Amino acid sequence: MPSGSPSGGPLRLFHLSDIHFGLEDRRALDWVKDCIERERPHAVAITGDLTMRARHPEFRAACEWIQALDVPVTVEVGNHDIPYFNLYARFFAPYARFKAIEKLVETQLDLPNLAIVPLRTTTRAQWQRFPWSNGWVTERALGHTLEAIDALPAGTRVLVAAHHPLTERRADGKLLTINGTRTMEVLAGRKVMGIMTGHVHDPFDMVQQTPAGPLRMIGAGTLSLRIRSTPPSFNEIVIDGDEVKVTARNLEQVPTPAMQIDRIPENALPPRSPEEPVSPVATVPPVDPPVH
Ligand SMILES: [Fe+2]
Ligand SMILES: [Fe+2]
Repeated sequence: MPSGSPSGGPLRLFHLSDIHFGLEDRRALDWVKDCIERERPHAVAITGDLTMRARHPEFRAACEWIQALDVPVTVEVGNHDIPYFNLYARFFAPYARFKAIEKLVETQLDLPNLAIVPLRTTTRAQWQRFPWSNGWVTERALGHTLEAIDALPAGTRVLVAAHHPLTERRADGKLLTINGTRTMEVLAGRKVMGIMTGHVHDPFDMVQQTPAGPLRMIGAGTLSLRIRSTPPSFNEIVIDGDEVKVTARNLEQVPTPAMQIDRIPENALPPRSPEEPVSPVATVPPVDPPVH
């Protein structure tokens, strides 16, 4: 019998991402908070980019909002959450500003017969390139995640939470997430149900084939004003037995298939050339959002 919640029914998660306090969408955030209070999902996974520039006031607002959520929460670290202007802090205390929610950061959530296991894809620096906004799954980070998965009781279902989608190369060969291909293969080999990510500001739900089997890749949109090609949204993920159903909920009532992109873009900037992926709803802002 499929077991999900304590009563044996399905498990329901809310997958939020890229709130970007400093440029948050207040209307969308109030709505999400209300949904969480009313519907009480079994857990909330926030896949990074809590702030715009990792400034103290942005973190204060983010921590306050997250601390008020009265359900289990896990928070991943996004590339926007590492001090940007203060290089000393970037290198020596990159996570100090998370103090108020440190227990939630990169924390594993153990739900009935399902674990949400974090995977760090954000790094302080990358010798391979500059800027460092894209992902890198270091051997150490992957090791932590695999160790956590392998320690689970046999038969536990697993969802992995990370900030960057694992796609390693764009169609033209440009490097996106370093070590992403191998990570996808290893996670598929561990039979994880899916990996939840953010970073690109448009939702998606696709299956990546790997030599070790398929891997479900679930991306959440943004809850900020920095939209790419979809209105602000979050994912509702329902796990019923071995089935995972993803709905990209939004205030505009756009149906999920019209919200989801079918290829991973390079970044969260709105598509400006014809070959870039655009969601069917194509809510593309006329000008690029301001980044201060
Ligand atoms: Fe972002
Ligand atoms: Fe990001």
